Amino acid sequence: MIAQDALREAVARLKQAGVPDPVRDARVLLTHSMGIEPGRLTLCLHDALTKDQANRFDAAIDRRSKREPVSHILGRRAFFGRTFKVSADVLDPRPETEMLVAEALKHRFQNVLDLGTGSGCILLSLLAERPEATGVGVDLSKAALKVAAENAAGLGLEDRSALFGSNWFDTVEGRFDLIVSNPPYIDEAEWHTLEPEPRQWEPKQALTPGADGLAPYRIIAANAGRFLTSGGWVMVEIGWQQGASVTQIFIDAGFQNVGIVQDLDGRDRVVTAKSGT
Ligand SMILES: C[S@@+](CC[C@H](N)C(=O)[O-])C[C@H]1O[C@@H](n2cnc3c(N)ncnc32)[C@H](O)[C@@H]1O
Repeated sequence: MIAQDALREAVARLKQAGVPDPVRDARVLLTHSMGIEPGRLTLCLHDALTKDQANRFDAAIDRRSKREPVSHILGRRAFFGRTFKVSADVLDPRPETEMLVAEALKHRFQNVLDLGTGSGCILLSLLAERPEATGVGVDLSKAALKVAAENAAGLGLEDRSALFGSNWFDTVEGRFDLIVSNPPYIDEAEWHTLEPEPRQWEPKQALTPGADGLAPYRIIAANAGRFLTSGGWVMVEIGWQQGASVTQIFIDAGFQNVGIVQDLDGRDRVVTAKSGT
């Protein structure tokens, strides 16, 4: 079959499955199946697909029709200029989380703790940008830590990163100049209304802590002081409607300079706070 015809059929299938941007996704999956750079697709649209390419594309469109995220089908996601392995065991790194990394990089740090590291995208991006720094990433999910370890190895950062299981701070030792976290923060009711991609294909534990979605912030604010060096910073990603609640949680816990950073859409996205000691 000619690539262009396969693409047309695929777009129709994805549209029928309710995929939000069927043309974009079909193009990405076609270039992936053909093994070509995305920028070359237009040049190759009149080529005949080999049997292998056609089978790969068909299988990819099947998966996407079931609303599996494109990143899972590709097995990777670009984040802060690097490529991270992703799977159904981790949260698919989101572009808005790059805001947290950019904010953290405005500060000096020798060591960093990432709570709920998932794919390791925050911790490993920070370490890659700061060649002199070391870091610790913890997660409740052993499966997620395996993905993070693969990403650390892929980026050549395994010597500067320690990854281990922990319920937030439970098994963490030492003090850090910087603590970062993108905890699960969607409230239980909202989780039920999410699109199929996150609801069916990403770990629920990575998306919602249940109830009002604020429990991880209460735990982080109550404990971070004991793990920060004097004048160290803690930074957490938040849901865009949680700015007031989360800043109050950190103020009540005795932090100084508590502030909110907005994302490119002008929505509250990150809360930053300085150690009170
Ligand atoms: C929103 S995801 C963030 C993953 C990654 N840091 C990112 O930004 O893409 C939250 C992560 O927190 C982890 N998590 C949830 N509850 C936890 C707990 N009690 N202790 C440690 N990690 C937890 C989840 O397994 C998940 O990997």
